[in-house]
Amino acid sequence: MVEKLLMLPGPTHLPNRVLRAMSRPVISHRGEEFHHLYESVEEGLRYVFQTRNNVFILTASGTGGVEFAVNNFIGRRDKVIVPITGVFASRMATAISRRGASVIKVDLGLGDHLTPEKLEEILRKHKDASVLSLVFNETSTGVSAWRIVEIGRVAKEHGLLFIVDSISALGGVDIPTDKAMIDVHIAGSQKCIAAPPGLSFVAVSSYAEEKAGEVEPGSFYFDFSSYKRFASKSETPFTPAVPLLYALEESLKMIREEGLENVFKRHSRAAEALYAALSTLGFSFVAKPEFRSKTVIAAYPPRGVDAYRLKAELESKYGVVIAGGMGELKGKIIRIGVMGRVSTAAVTRTVSSLESLLYSLGVYEKIGDALRAALEHLH
Ligand SMILES: Cc1ncc(COP(=O)(O)O)c(C=O)c1O
Repeated sequence: MVEKLLMLPGPTHLPNRVLRAMSRPVISHRGEEFHHLYESVEEGLRYVFQTRNNVFILTASGTGGVEFAVNNFIGRRDKVIVPITGVFASRMATAISRRGASVIKVDLGLGDHLTPEKLEEILRKHKDASVLSLVFNETSTGVSAWRIVEIGRVAKEHGLLFIVDSISALGGVDIPTDKAMIDVHIAGSQKCIAAPPGLSFVAVSSYAEEKAGEVEPGSFYFDFSSYKRFASKSETPFTPAVPLLYALEESLKMIREEGLENVFKRHSRAAEALYAALSTLGFSFVAKPEFRSKTVIAAYPPRGVDAYRLKAELESKYGVVIAGGMGELKGKIIRIGVMGRVSTAAVTRTVSSLESLLYSLGVYEKIGDALRAALEHLH
């Protein structure tokens, strides 16, 4: 039995420190001890979000964070621009239309993402838009809106509320909430932050807080005013997943110890190494080069190789767990997560496993070339 290596676009490998933290006794979520835990986690999240805004902690997976944003900061009279980059942007659009707001879906095309110029163009056609709701890193296609700071500037020049889902990127790449003027910024626990699945976080600007006051809340469980009231005493309105918060506190400490800049560099090096190795092996990428994600790599296998088989055999023979395609890319691609505690060891194991597998399938001969290509970026 080979020990599994999770190279999924979430959930990611959890270090022992994080796992051990979950075995601490459960405490009262209305007591002093919990207040310290809440404050420590809140401070750690502010660091990762790069914000002075309030950060709210939800016992819900990432989608819960999206629902929180949609049901508190978007009203029925809003016109919301949603750039469609793949499955997760489409889900966001669905959540917004269920809220009863008008959704302006802008199909950007496979492998593409938003630029400030494209946003200007969209806004020329939709002068009455009031919200921009963007998935920063589209996990189904492996594209990132790298020019987020300029995009935020354009959104603000046009008076838009700026909502960003960074669930599959925050804590792995630089998405400075305050600099990019993001009003409502959503992240999840199980991706680059390297905590267990089950928590989501939403950083909310004072502008968004004001807007929440003018909008009829669409949800009881995710009512912003309750979260705000309880946060003022370092609590959550409902029973939080305390063991997950212990784990989160530990993973946030690990990010602080390493330093955000170093965390970003480690993700970037690992992603570059994987892109180089996969190119050498004959893969091609869904993302256009300027939008390539550094946390999720979405790649078409070399000619004649079945994506399902590749994914299945990589796991059964080498213990490396990756993901397949979603939506229109189901069965056509593989997706590799570059998240959380991703290391040189994890990247080299993934590359050499892929190289060996393709060699054994008779579609690749130059054993060692892909690993060498990866190492050039890792060292
Ligand atoms: C960009 C993005 N948004 C939303 C979600 C939904 O998160 P969850 O599955 O934690 O609810 C994901 C999950 O992969 C995601 O990648």
